[in-house]
Order: sequence, then C-alpha cells, then structure tokens
Amino acid sequence: MTARIIDGTALARHLRQDIATRVDALSAQGVIPGLAVILVGDDAASAVYVGRKVKACDAVGIRSFTERYPAAIDTGTLLARIAALNADPTVHGILVQLPLPGHIDMPSVLETISIDKDVDGFHLYNIGALVTGNTVFSPCTPYGVVKLLESEGIDLKGQNVVVVGASNIVGKPTALMLMAEGATVSICHIHTRDLAQYTIMADILVVAAGVPGLIVPQMVKRGAVVIDVGINRLADGRIVGDVDFAGVCTRAAAITPVPGGVGPLTVTMLLENTVVSAERALTAMAVDA
Ligand code: GUN
Repeated sequence: MTARIIDGTALARHLRQDIATRVDALSAQGVIPGLAVILVGDDAASAVYVGRKVKACDAVGIRSFTERYPAAIDTGTLLARIAALNADPTVHGILVQLPLPGHIDMPSVLETISIDKDVDGFHLYNIGALVTGNTVFSPCTPYGVVKLLESEGIDLKGQNVVVVGASNIVGKPTALMLMAEGATVSICHIHTRDLAQYTIMADILVVAAGVPGLIVPQMVKRGAVVIDVGINRLADGRIVGDVDFAGVCTRAAAITPVPGGVGPLTVTMLLENTVVSAERALTAMAVDA
C-alpha cells in the first residue's frame, strides 16, 4: 500500500480563496477585518510563526498589526494593552503568541482577551466550551485537523481515533472536537505504557507529541489515516513531523506530509476565525442600527 498524500497546502489555498471573498464583501460594507498580534521577547521561532500569520493576513486582505514588546514587560502593562484592544472596534481578533516569558502570568493574559476576539481559542471559556460544544472560536490547529479529515470525506462517527500528545493547545482540544463528531477517542501521552497497543487500533491517528520519528510503521493499522501535527527541526536543518513518513506511507491509506500538511491549515483557521469575528461584528452593528 502507498498512502495518498493529504495536501494541506492545496486545501489551505482553496479555503483562503473563500476567506478572501468574504473579506472583500465585508470591506464593501465598511468593515475591514483586523487582527492584533502581540509578540513578547525575541524567541526566533515565535517571530517566524508571527511573520507567517501576518503574511497570510495580507494575502486575504485582513488588516493585521504586530505589537512587539521586550521580554522584560510586566503582566500589568500587557493586560492594559489587551484591554485597550478589546475596546477597539477596528480589532476583531487578538492573538498573543506563545510561549510568553516565564515571569508573565500567562493564564491572566489569555483570560483578559475578550472571548469575542479570542481567535486563537485559548481563553479558558473557549477551552471549557469544547466540552459542551458551544465555543465562540475553536482553536486553530485542532480546527485545521477537523478540516483536513472533512476534506478527505471521512465520516468520524464510530471511528477509532487515537490522539498522541495531550497538550492544552493541540492534543486535548483535538480529542474533544473529534469526539464531538462522534469518534471514539483515546488520548495517549508521555506516561502512556506501550503506546503501540493504542496506535495500532486507530482508524485515524493524530500525532502531536513533538518527537521526530515517534510513530514507526509497525504502530500503524493498515489502511489508517495519519495526521501528523509535529513540526521538528533536525540537526541537519530538515523539518520533519512525528511520524516516520516514508515507512508509514507503506501502511496508511492517507497521510499528511510535514511540511505541507497541518501547518498551512493552522494559519488558515486563524484567518477564518478572524473573518467570522468581523462578520459577527457587522451583524451586531446592523442589529444595533
Ligand atoms: N505558539 C505555538 N502555537 C501557537 C498558536 O497556535 N497560537 C499562539 N498564539 N501561540 C502559539
């Protein structure tokens, strides 16, 4: 068996065309979607990620602006800035790039963002609402995983899904979102004994552990769909996922590559959330008028 490659770049391009059309429609009605990005300190990877988000915003017509603060900024100053952005009607989304320097009270920062502008879906409300299925915004990477599976025409009802990795940003929310679609979900993590006994059961295997080469072919059921969320830079500079791609291609029915799989969807879902926020703002303006 040679797995079909799930082309995240192509799907992202397709979704971004629709987003750009909606941005045009909003702009024609006087609302230009706006995204505020806060970058604290000088983490090189964060700067790269933020650069990609800003570029993607530009390409679809979302007005983004990045506010950079020194690593030494205190929590209070950051909270005051977020409060000002919450009150700014030209800003529809607020994103604080993580990780933040250790002295900053990250939960307070995330919970100060208005839930109506929490386009990253990291506010405690939005995380909690994943349990009941009424988020204001879904977190971008899990949302992207759902979109990729949807694009493959996969009905999740009754599927055995195994999520490897239990982070608050990816593993746990992905598990909840796929469970909401009717999948039977297991979450494995760093303390899981004999990971393979779980992964071999998976009709759909989602891997977000941050460990290159963690998933080898013997751990994958024949015909499974494998979604690799890992992004790891090797010593030789190559970017790889958490899955032994070449090996697992011989067992899986379909697999996402790294790069070019989940990554482009994460940024796309941020654009989607920002446009949805602007569309809601326009509707609210019409109701108030
Ligand atoms: N750091 C790593 N991934 C993300 C993300 O999706 N959003 C934010 N804000 N920070 C991150």
